[in-house]
Amino acid sequence: MTSEFLRRSFPESLLTAALSISIVLGSLNMNAAETICPAVKLVASQRPLVIGHRGYCQFAPENTLPSFKLAMAAGADLVELDYHHSKDGKLVVIHDYELDRTTDATNRWAQKKITVESKTAVELQSLDAGNWFNPKYAGTRIPLLSEALDTIQKGSVTLIERKAGAPADCIKLLREKGLINHLVVQSFDWGYLRAFHEQEPGQLLGALGPPAQLTNGKKPSGMAQELSATWLNELRKTGAKVAVWNQKVSKEAVEFAHRQGLKVWVYTVNDQALANELLDMGVDGLITNNPSLIRKTLATRVRKASYGAGITAPGPNGPKPTPGGKLASDGVPTTLGT
Ligand code: G3P
Ligand code: CA
Repeated sequence: MTSEFLRRSFPESLLTAALSISIVLGSLNMNAAETICPAVKLVASQRPLVIGHRGYCQFAPENTLPSFKLAMAAGADLVELDYHHSKDGKLVVIHDYELDRTTDATNRWAQKKITVESKTAVELQSLDAGNWFNPKYAGTRIPLLSEALDTIQKGSVTLIERKAGAPADCIKLLREKGLINHLVVQSFDWGYLRAFHEQEPGQLLGALGPPAQLTNGKKPSGMAQELSATWLNELRKTGAKVAVWNQKVSKEAVEFAHRQGLKVWVYTVNDQALANELLDMGVDGLITNNPSLIRKTLATRVRKASYGAGITAPGPNGPKPTPGGKLASDGVPTTLGT
């Protein structure tokens, strides 16, 4: 449609109004993703993020609702989980391909190495996924991904890791629940990420690294496991915005990632010395089995930086700690519920 055509078709006042509206919408669009999608805003944040690995798996059975609630109570910015597909195509939350380690399937069905994909969702949800960890969690079920999202998205942001299945199934669920870009999706399978990005370009993705396979089909080893410019250039082609890497990262690689507009998160960091080392390199997020410990590490760094800058400690009337900041000396949250 040419401007001449517009001038002939519409009075000038209407054109002026349309132009004003489009300018306003244009400026809204610049911030639309952040305004509408809390995950985008969170990931863009300048402060390092604390990400609960399989929930709060140091103190609750991994990938269960109690574990997710505990991570949320500890103030985790994001709560990570893993999903597979059941025999009847439901998305279920569990880490391993087999049921042996984290359920009572071996006893129940008198067989070892029973796979997740060989059982229906109803069968999987009849298992006990808590007693293996601690009898106080007996009766805890394997959650459906849908149930896990309902729980986590009430107070945090989910970091979904795909272990098996096509992107279309995950995209369908996220669309149905109105959660596109209200969470982050990650995978070690960069082919899955590329396909996901093609089908739903709006969704924020994280590429786990090193990826499961090199282009020659081999598993990366040695130097090939380190975060590098080569990996980061490959990673960008998947559409991912976050490099979620093992601990083999360097300050240079993190700086390179930042120059490319990428964030770097590191897994799985469960001690303060390592956390400090990685934070000194400038990483943007730490995935941990103990979110309270990492929150405590971050708080200590902020306090030290403030003292270094000559800012005195808050007095008795100073700011109160947030719920996730109430910590016992061992980093265990003092307000834990199951
Ligand atoms: O989020 C990173 C981490 O979960 C990847 O390893 O084996 O625990 O799923 P894994
Ligand atoms: Ca995982």
